Amino acid sequence: MSDGGRIAPDAHLLVTGGAGFIGSELVRRLLAREDGTRVTVLDLLTYAGNRANLAAVESDPARAARLAFVRGDIADRDAVGPLVAAADAVVNVAAETHVDRSILDPEAFLRTGVIGVHVLLEAVRREAARAEAGERRTNPRFLQVSTDEVYGDIAEGRSVETDPLAPRSPYAAAKASSELLVRAYRITYGLDTVVTRGSNTYGPHQHPEKLIPLFVTNALAGEPLPMYGDGLQVRDWLHVSDHAAGIEFVLRHGQPGETYNVAGGTELPNREVISRLLAAAGRDWSLVRTVPDRPGHDRRYAMDGSKLEALGWSPAVAFELGLPETVAWYRDNPGWVEAAKGGDWASYYDAQYASRLARGTAADESPVEAG
Ligand code: NAD
Ligand code: DAU
Repeated sequence: MSDGGRIAPDAHLLVTGGAGFIGSELVRRLLAREDGTRVTVLDLLTYAGNRANLAAVESDPARAARLAFVRGDIADRDAVGPLVAAADAVVNVAAETHVDRSILDPEAFLRTGVIGVHVLLEAVRREAARAEAGERRTNPRFLQVSTDEVYGDIAEGRSVETDPLAPRSPYAAAKASSELLVRAYRITYGLDTVVTRGSNTYGPHQHPEKLIPLFVTNALAGEPLPMYGDGLQVRDWLHVSDHAAGIEFVLRHGQPGETYNVAGGTELPNREVISRLLAAAGRDWSLVRTVPDRPGHDRRYAMDGSKLEALGWSPAVAFELGLPETVAWYRDNPGWVEAAKGGDWASYYDAQYASRLARGTAADESPVEAG
């Protein structure tokens, strides 16, 4: 296909973390191409990974024939080696992703974000050497999915790709560490690497530990919504279909060694997001509780998306449409929600919220005007 950029039409792509929220959207998107693209998913199926997120492709024979699923850890070199050897490009979506869990227990974040990324890069380095020696067809491209959280708290203006990394949570520090490893392997070994930094992502299939799915599912169930601090923290919202599209665009068209912000362009304080999701769920502010804040809580993230826009990509889904559709998806998929709130959910929820909710107070509706 003419828009395939640096990735051949019949490419075999290794997508790590492909059973998660953004990874599964990317897999659905890649397999929707009818150009022979094949995908292998490597996913550990942690509490956040869910094979059911791939049901739409696994139940469609034409797409299922171009998908392979491997349960495994990106930090396991024996699992990773052969999969990278068989791939034309690697998209590393896998990570531990929840800031609150990184505050409760950071270790898994470092194992996946540092050791896991190192293992993937070593495998890509071996395959790049084989390509150089003419022993394989392609020099494998490596795309690292990163986050706006690596810039830290942004009081004003918008982060550009050349700004310093200033992570402030264990999660963000692990993501920044991943990026630094990618940078080192690019400079030292000349690997073909690209990095995307996405903003706060929302949409169907997101694990209910994150703000929007937690508050939507709690609101639909008539349970309290634990709003941290004053609720005036600002995030820049990006629909999951846009995030996956931005990652694919950079995979195909990004310049080697470059980093690209994938910005949503919809900056909103949490209170405003809460008001809108309550309206879409048919509930009111009586459910909202002001609870003790997240330690080290970043007040604002905001990115400048003009570098990727200049390359030819910008987001397409308006928050005004994407949010009510997301609320409807959670309402229409109670089985998915119930499964996601299984496993270690009860003990996590207790550790994160029991004492907060006990100290919480009723929250007045936001003074912030709807934009
Ligand atoms: P998620 O938590 O829904 O999914 C992560 C997936 O990675 C899960 O399927 C999990 O099983 C898998 N995984 C975790 N550790 C693994 C390991 N060691 N080996 C193999 N698989 C492993 O996360 P998400 O929200 O879809 O985020 C995906 C990526 O996008 C992450 O790298 C995250 O840092 C980044 N990101 C997320 C957002 C957001 O708002 N959700 C925004 C910007 C960037
Ligand atoms: O900015 C990109 C990042 O967005 C990603 O890299 C992370 O993987 C993703 O988890 C997300 O991080 P945040 O910390 O911004 O997302 P979270 O949904 O946890 O919180 C969004 C905002 O809502 C934040 O200001 C904290 C607040 N919040 C969150 C929860 C879970 C609450 O007030 N109450 C809550 O219970």
